[in-house]
Amino acid sequence: MRALLCALALLQGVGANAGANPNDAAIEAHVEGLLARMTVEEKVGQLAQVNADEGRMSDKLRAAVKAGMVGSVLNAVDVATVNELQRVAVQESRLGIPLLMGRDVIHGFKTVLPIPLGQAAAWNPELVEQGARMAALEAAASGVNWTFAPMIDVSRDPRWGRIAESFGEDPYLVSVLGVASIRGFQGDDLSRPDAIAACAKHFVGYGASEGGRDYGFVGIPEVDLRNVYMPPFKAAVDAGVATFMAAFSDVNGVPASGNRFLMQTVLRDEWKFPGFVVSDWESIIDMIVHGFAANEKEAAFEALSAGVDMEMASTTYRDHLAELLAAGRINQDTLDAAVRNVLRVKFRLGLFERTSTDPAAYPEVASEQNLALAKKLTTQSLVLLQNRNEVLPLARTSLRSLAVIGPMADDDYEQLGTWIYDGDTALSRTPLRAIREMVGPRVTVRYVRAMETTRSRTTTAFADAVAAASSSDAAVLFLGEESILSGEAHSRANIDLPGNQMDLVRAVKRAGKPVIVVILAGRPLTIEPILADADAVVYAWHPGSMAGPAIADILFGVESPSGKLPVTFPRVVGQLPIYYAQRNTGKPPLPDTLVHIDDIKVRTSQTGLKNKSWYLDAGYEPLYPFGYGLSYTSFVYSDIKATPSRARVGVPVTVRAVVKNVGKVAADEVVQLYVQDLVGSITRPVRELKGFQRVHLKPGESREVSFQLSADDLAFYGRNMTRATEPGAFHAWIGGSSRADLRADFELTAD
Ligand code: NOJ
Repeated sequence: MRALLCALALLQGVGANAGANPNDAAIEAHVEGLLARMTVEEKVGQLAQVNADEGRMSDKLRAAVKAGMVGSVLNAVDVATVNELQRVAVQESRLGIPLLMGRDVIHGFKTVLPIPLGQAAAWNPELVEQGARMAALEAAASGVNWTFAPMIDVSRDPRWGRIAESFGEDPYLVSVLGVASIRGFQGDDLSRPDAIAACAKHFVGYGASEGGRDYGFVGIPEVDLRNVYMPPFKAAVDAGVATFMAAFSDVNGVPASGNRFLMQTVLRDEWKFPGFVVSDWESIIDMIVHGFAANEKEAAFEALSAGVDMEMASTTYRDHLAELLAAGRINQDTLDAAVRNVLRVKFRLGLFERTSTDPAAYPEVASEQNLALAKKLTTQSLVLLQNRNEVLPLARTSLRSLAVIGPMADDDYEQLGTWIYDGDTALSRTPLRAIREMVGPRVTVRYVRAMETTRSRTTTAFADAVAAASSSDAAVLFLGEESILSGEAHSRANIDLPGNQMDLVRAVKRAGKPVIVVILAGRPLTIEPILADADAVVYAWHPGSMAGPAIADILFGVESPSGKLPVTFPRVVGQLPIYYAQRNTGKPPLPDTLVHIDDIKVRTSQTGLKNKSWYLDAGYEPLYPFGYGLSYTSFVYSDIKATPSRARVGVPVTVRAVVKNVGKVAADEVVQLYVQDLVGSITRPVRELKGFQRVHLKPGESREVSFQLSADDLAFYGRNMTRATEPGAFHAWIGGSSRADLRADFELTAD
């Protein structure tokens, strides 16, 4: 592949100097040379991102590009249109500056990978990187040179529809997978034709939208911004991400698009980010609606002054920056800094040397190889939540008949999930089709859709579903929620299985056969009510093009499940937000002090119950904890050690343990390391993920897994808002979930 891409670069005329990753000084010289020749209008033009309406190039867009009034176009993916846009920019505009062609390439392009939350459940950065690489190649073949991904918002509220696009609740997991994704999109040399610029979004705090309602207010103390929500973005800067996107959010009273603390103090002054920041869609004019700017001119002023370099979709920069400059409210340096940031990325991408795209020079789009990668990632993303009496895996040899039931069993669109603009449903292999292919003609497969959508309230087809289950050896139900129920602006206040799906499970259970429920969804759903009737539950997220073959492999034991939850599953929605890395509170609950609302006697006085941090009607435990997921085998952990157990701050500590496969089948296990810093200058989470490794073990095989903790790994922003590793006592756990109970202790000393 590498050789092919080098050949590609040569074929496309990438010159030795320009194509071979020109060094920073040379790029800066190019940027300054160009900047010196630009008029104010041309500078402002570079800061404008214009939507190609329905992917087309209107006369208006052509004229604007020709006049040098456009720096970037979004949503053009027809390669002829893209090439024509680039031709006009390069050959007909005065300075010949190429365009950034932006697109939401979120989880695949034509070949659709699992939604990012599903990818996170695989806990496999290598596969996430390969997936992003695959998507980059497919997109680049259409002329796309910039994706608005990865989304690295730490997301702790499944009501929020955009949790689907996230890597879940944990800053460490999100950081690792975000970096993997950036590497995949950008490759190791941004100037190669197979690289596309990535975008770390949405800076910052969008995942904490109040009440899980999209675009909601974000109130996060600075200490949590820095310790929880910012680390993935800092990791993205360190990984060389080319661009950032400002969040839609009002962060602590200042919308991100006008937030100087975020964009200037943190991103530029502290982190030295050299790329550019794009606003979100019309987020600059949204500042008027927020009540933060009086009009479009003031919105433009606030956004540029804060450090938002490019404006997506709205036109306040185009309409007002020249005037603000002339009035002396914005100075030349501020404008130039923004233009430099944009031009720098264009040079880094090698766009000046490579202005047209020949799809034939790229590897085949949606190839069998790409689909195989999608299948592998999907297989590892599937989480087995329950498996009573080991009803799974189904025995291929003895099974005679199977009922396949439900609205998500055979829907080539809904299995793809949110943000699949370019996804090709013709590539989708549905669970029903894959099961039929897997079992062949020897097994009778009885398919009953039972509900038109997951939201249907009718029960008329339930009798057919029950009949199919009665006459079969087992029933597999494909339930969940359609893709439209998650994603941007698709939050839900109630995250139960929609419609009459719970009744469908109950009805099918009455047939007396093993009931296996596979859930396809964009978020954790509150599935406790079906657990009594579902013998097994597999959580599949929205699995993408290869949903069927991956799910069939798990159902029939070709593969053992190995996905682990990247987000806590609540029992009821009222527990939200619920996440494993909570602070302890002063009155943490214990199981023996818990009282349930139904057990409280008449006229119990206030002092009759213990004062503990719980819900009288929902306890304090989630349904499933972060990091949880079952397998067809069992793993036993032993021999944990932390060495040295006492060390000076700065000396690395190694934590190791032995994991053994004590079951009957070979399987992967995701070994997880958690740490607690017992006393801090600010209170610390009860546990924090600090490392993980996916290992493959044969039956009876054991492996020692070790993790090294540097001072930096244990550092946090403390009371004085500086980042440090504080001396003191630590607990470390190694195991298969955030509930791991195998513990070793160590201590860090000041000298
Ligand atoms: C709005 C979304 O918030 C953002 O994530 C996306 O990249 C842009 N629209 C462009 O489609």
